Amino acid sequence: MDEKPLTIGIITSGGDAPGMNSCIRAVAREAAANNARVIGVNNGYDGLINGDFQSLGARDVGGILQRGGTVLQTRRSEAFRERSGQQKAIGKMKEAGINALVIIGGDGSLNGAHALACEGIPVVGVPASIDNDIWGTNMAIGVDTAMNTIMEAVDKLRDTASSHGRTFVVETMGRGCGYLAVMAGIVCGAEMVLIPEVPVTMEEVVEALDSAYRREKTYAIIVVAEGASIRTSELVRVLNEKRVGFETRVTILGHIQRGGSPTAFDRMLAARMGTKAIEALLAGQTDVMTGLQGRDIELVPLEEVISHKRTANLDYYTMARRLAT
Ligand code: F6P
Repeated sequence: MDEKPLTIGIITSGGDAPGMNSCIRAVAREAAANNARVIGVNNGYDGLINGDFQSLGARDVGGILQRGGTVLQTRRSEAFRERSGQQKAIGKMKEAGINALVIIGGDGSLNGAHALACEGIPVVGVPASIDNDIWGTNMAIGVDTAMNTIMEAVDKLRDTASSHGRTFVVETMGRGCGYLAVMAGIVCGAEMVLIPEVPVTMEEVVEALDSAYRREKTYAIIVVAEGASIRTSELVRVLNEKRVGFETRVTILGHIQRGGSPTAFDRMLAARMGTKAIEALLAGQTDVMTGLQGRDIELVPLEEVISHKRTANLDYYTMARRLAT
């Protein structure tokens, strides 16, 4: 670690997640408490490449703890994927006197963090993505808030589905990870959950729904992860065509899952991970990510994080199916 006083850049990158602001606040305040300077990088890695910086003192992060999204904005940066973009970013950091980074984001952002660490920049990553597909942490920042958003939405859909005797197909986010769909299946009591990790055929889905109808279910909820083997639109078309017991309607939850004031869990996780990231940098650690393991926040090598993907827990998938009987 440089002998120069620590000047830490904070970046939020990739898809935004509720709790990012709580984490920005924790990083800035813990750094200030340790006489380190903090520079906010606007617009993710694009901002790093363009030198789009703002000073972040303890007062500048007041009143953001409860806000969804990120006050630093975020982007998905194509330019940063190239080494030329990374080199340009490093040059801008040097010009601004930034000599360490905390990067808050998902798997793509953490890949970028590792690339900078390999160039000798002290970097600590903080996992933030509603998908919960980040290896090395039981929960990423934003997941709990997204889960509660989904639960409230599906509970509302259950009211109308039960009133009309309908099947509601509900699509959740998650890219290639079915975590949100599986957990929604359990906490919302869905009749069926479709996830990328367990490919199913349309015939299997139709049979399962027909079986629910024969078991005298008067309506049904099917939660479909956006990366599932059956496309939501195709599922709705077939179910309406075959008129399997119930009339079918569809709701794609989309980006509502990314918004909202972070839950107490996410605010706590963000505070713990943000302070841990500063502690790690002060201790000379780099090329690591803060990860929730059991009840503790541990440091996980970024090399390990980016070379694995976290997928849905198939024991929970089985539980969701059993509890739908
Ligand atoms: O990675 C988070 C996520 O919300 C995914 O679940 C989703 O597929 C993707 O981002 C959507 O990306 P965008 O916000 O660029 O549309």
